[in-house]
Parts: sequence; structure tokens; C-alpha cells
Amino acid sequence: MAFSSLFRRKSTTTILQQGGDGDHTELHKVLTVRDLTFFGIAAIIGGGTFSAIGNACFSGGPGVVILYIICAIACGFTAMCYAEFASRVPVSGSAYTYAYVSFGELFAWIIGWALIMEYSIGNIYIAFSWSGYFTNLLETFQIHLPDWLTINYQSAHSAFLENKAGEGFNAWQTAPMLGSLRIIFDMPAVVINLLITYLVYRGTKESRNISNVMVMIKLVIIVLVIVVGAFYVDIDNWTPFMPNGFKGVMGGVSAVFFAYIGFDAVSTLAEESKNPQRDLPRGMIYSLLVCTVVYIILALVITGMVSYTLLGVSDPLAEIFALKGVKWMLFIVSIAAVVAMTSVMLVFQMGQPRIWMTMSRDGLMPKKFSEIHPKYKTPGFATIVTGLVVGIPIFFTDENFVLDFTSIGTLFAFVLVCGGVLMLSPQSEAEIAERRTNGKFKIPYINSKFIFPLMVVAAAFLIQYLFPTFFVDTFDFSQDKMATNSTMIIFFILCIVMAILSFLKNLSLIPLLGLISCCYLLTGMAISNWKWFGVWLLIGLVFYFFYGYKNSKLNPNR
Ligand code: ALA
Repeated sequence: MAFSSLFRRKSTTTILQQGGDGDHTELHKVLTVRDLTFFGIAAIIGGGTFSAIGNACFSGGPGVVILYIICAIACGFTAMCYAEFASRVPVSGSAYTYAYVSFGELFAWIIGWALIMEYSIGNIYIAFSWSGYFTNLLETFQIHLPDWLTINYQSAHSAFLENKAGEGFNAWQTAPMLGSLRIIFDMPAVVINLLITYLVYRGTKESRNISNVMVMIKLVIIVLVIVVGAFYVDIDNWTPFMPNGFKGVMGGVSAVFFAYIGFDAVSTLAEESKNPQRDLPRGMIYSLLVCTVVYIILALVITGMVSYTLLGVSDPLAEIFALKGVKWMLFIVSIAAVVAMTSVMLVFQMGQPRIWMTMSRDGLMPKKFSEIHPKYKTPGFATIVTGLVVGIPIFFTDENFVLDFTSIGTLFAFVLVCGGVLMLSPQSEAEIAERRTNGKFKIPYINSKFIFPLMVVAAAFLIQYLFPTFFVDTFDFSQDKMATNSTMIIFFILCIVMAILSFLKNLSLIPLLGLISCCYLLTGMAISNWKWFGVWLLIGLVFYFFYGYKNSKLNPNR
């Protein structure tokens, strides 16, 4: 195996000829810019907004708003990079295909592998959150499912070991036995996954119609939450602004970032869009803008309504209205949550098989993954496998683990996409003119030569001024501090290296800022999270070397 063959690249022309030029693709081309924006919103507002926001507020206090802004900036730059790629390479594979063009096959595989964490593992978290709100909803109709059917095995086991009274403990005590095994699983989570898988299998047009209706419902209800909630805001709740310091704010990074994930899912629909090069970038950017505004206002409202200390629950939007005694909102919020999360699951469950389909066309996954169902025109086999990949772990994981895992994997993919744009070869004047004439998106080029190094120096001075002990604490090489500080140290080294490179190579500022801001968010991930991520990557590499490398269409000896 020649080392250089690991980085064999596909040319944009080959990719377009293979599947994205409209002549060869068998998928229905039905989606417009409005549909794509709706798809984006459908994928963004979900479990992060209705569930994970609670723990983020609990950890950071009202200051969590800063984290929403930081994540919006990181995602905004990344969305521009996705948009640049989507405009150059309008096929279904999303970041996977983009990496194939810019970094070569090995990185493409790694991204494809990391995207499983975003789409499939992310859906596990959403299925759990969905189940929580759905069970609330049933309760309002006086329907009570047994505890052992509404919680996952892990959580029930932990509650039992910690002797923590509540649903988990009850589930453990009351579960029926199969031999020596307790039957405990989250039934609503399993059922919603089955239904979504079936819907996606049946076809894009049907899924799209349902998704658009769901987006309308959830936007209207979130606006209602904000408007009604605003009447209960007491500005005293905003002080102290950062009760646990900036560290507390950053403690919510997985949860807040998770809330933004999804705009990129739009890029997996390239082959089903009428005019992908013009509409995909718009769909991504519009949906991100809408959601950013919604999140910042929502975070201000909920931290203003009650003390942040009361928000560490899994259904915070219902909790705030329960605490204020606004019963009718409880019901509405639960319906909105169920609808919102269903639409996220739908988009993610559509995205995953389309990425596998593209990888399979390249020979990196078995051929079956690119088979299109003759009647429904969807990647049928890949859709069923996605259903299994989401469904099976529901029986033995818990929500916190999958939340962290999704965020780290997705951030990693975002870093590679931003890096990929930095590495794209410049286009000729004629190509750029053609893109402008046809309304295709083009990322604005701003030379970072002086700007970026200056930003790094200015940021260092600002940090030193605002937090005088920050650098001393971070560069503390004592053994107990080293593990927690190592990501920050690596981040600083990266900033310096990129500052030098930007000076020497006139790098484009927007992708560079995307890369740096996503890397910054990665510094907030716990070490245990990094370890699991490392294991996941290793498994992926084993797959690649035993299967993908040999079967790749770019392998001349295959
Ligand atoms: N952003 C999506 C959600 O919060 C993943 O559910």
C-alpha cells in the first residue's frame, strides 16, 4: 500500500458525472429553497432546544447566552464553508464528499465515519428526549406507561446503584425478569424510531410534506413560548450573570452546540434539490439565521423567568411553565417538543442513508448501500440499516453519553470542512464569473495575512486583561492539571501555527475563523469524551483498511 494512495482525491468533475449531474441520479428532484430552509429548521430546533438547554443553563446560568453566540459564530462560518462546497460539489454526500475533493480518501472516510455520530447517534439522543416529552403528554391524558418501559436500562441501573428515588429506581424494582435479566427499555423511543424509518423508506416527497407542516407548528409554538414567557421575566434572575464563571458556561458546550447541529443536513439533499448550487447554500444560511435569533431570545427568556438553579431538568421548557403555574402552556409545550423532535429525527434519518449511498458509490461501503428502491426511489437498504443503528443502542446507552458523543463527532467533521475550504484550489476568473452569473454561492475571500495574526495577539491581550490568571493556570504542567489543560494548550499552539500560515499563504479568513472557532469549542469537551471518540476513530480506520481501501473505485488494482 503506497502511503500517497491514502490521499487519492476525486475530482469535482468525476463526482458530478458519477451521481450529481441530474442525468445519472435516480432520486426525485423536488426540493426548492423554501423546502431546504424548512428542512434546515426542521433539523436544527429539536432535542437541544427542548431538553439539553436545561442542563446548559444550570451549568452556565444566564451567561449561557454567550455560549449560544459563540456557537452561532462557529456554525455561521462553518455554514459558509458548507455552502461553498455545496455550490462546487452538489451531490448527496455532504462533508464526506467535500473531504474527498480536498483532503483525499482517508480523510473522506474519517468524516463519513464521524458523520455517523452526528446523524445516527444524534438521533438516539433525540429519540430519548422525544420519549420524555411524549410520556408527559400521555400523562396529561391520564395514560401512564410502566416506568420500566419509559427509561433506558443504563439510567435505571445507575439510579438503582445511587439509590436515587424516582423513575429509574422504580423501573429497576418493578421490571419483569427474563431469566436473570431485567426487561427495561425506552419503548416510545424504540417506536418513534421504527415509524420514522418507515416514513423515510417510503419516500422523500411524503417526508417533505410532513416535515414542512411540523416546522410551521414548532416555530409558531416557540414564538408563543417566548411571548408568554416574556411576561414572567424578572430581570433579577439575570444576576449573577455567570454564577459558575466562564468555566460553567463552557460546561454546556455539548448541549448548546447540539442545538445548532442540523443546518449541514441540508447538504445531504443535493440530489433532490431543483437547483442545488444556488439553493443549498441559501437553505443552510437562512435556517441557521432564524434559529440563532430564536435561541438567543429563548435563552434570555427562560433564564429570566426562573432561577437557573431550577433548570437542570430534562424538560426545562415544560418546567418553567409548571413553576409559574401556567398549566395550559405545559400541554402546548409538550406537543411542540414532540413535533419538533420528530422533524429533527426525520431529517437526520434521511441524511444518514444518503451519505452511505455516496460512500457506497465510491466503493468505500458495500454496494447494497447505494441500491435505490425501485418504487419509492429512496436508498432502501441504507435506510433500514440506519434504523437499526439508531434503534439497537436505544436499548443499552444513556442520553448524556450520546449527547457528548454526537457533539464531538460533528465538531470534528466541521473542522475538516473548514480546513477543506482552505485547501480548495482557487478557481479561474471564468469559473468565478460563471458562478456569479448563475447565482451560485461563492464564499467571499478576505485575506487573513495581517488580520488573523492581529486577532490572535489582540485576543491574548484581552484574555490576560480580563482573566489575569488564565495563562498561568492553563500552562500549569503539574500532573493533575495536565489532562484538563491539554486541549487548551493544543488550541493555543494551533492558533500560533495558523497565524504563521495565514501570514505566509494569504489564507482565506472566513474558513480560517470557522476552523479556529470549532477547534475552540472542541476544547470544552471532557477528556472521557475524547477517549471514546478516539476509540470510535480507531474502529473506523480498521474498517477502512480492511474494506474501503481495497474496494475503493480509485484503487487501480481492485
Ligand atoms: N439540533 C438538533 C436538536 O437539537 C440536533 O435536536
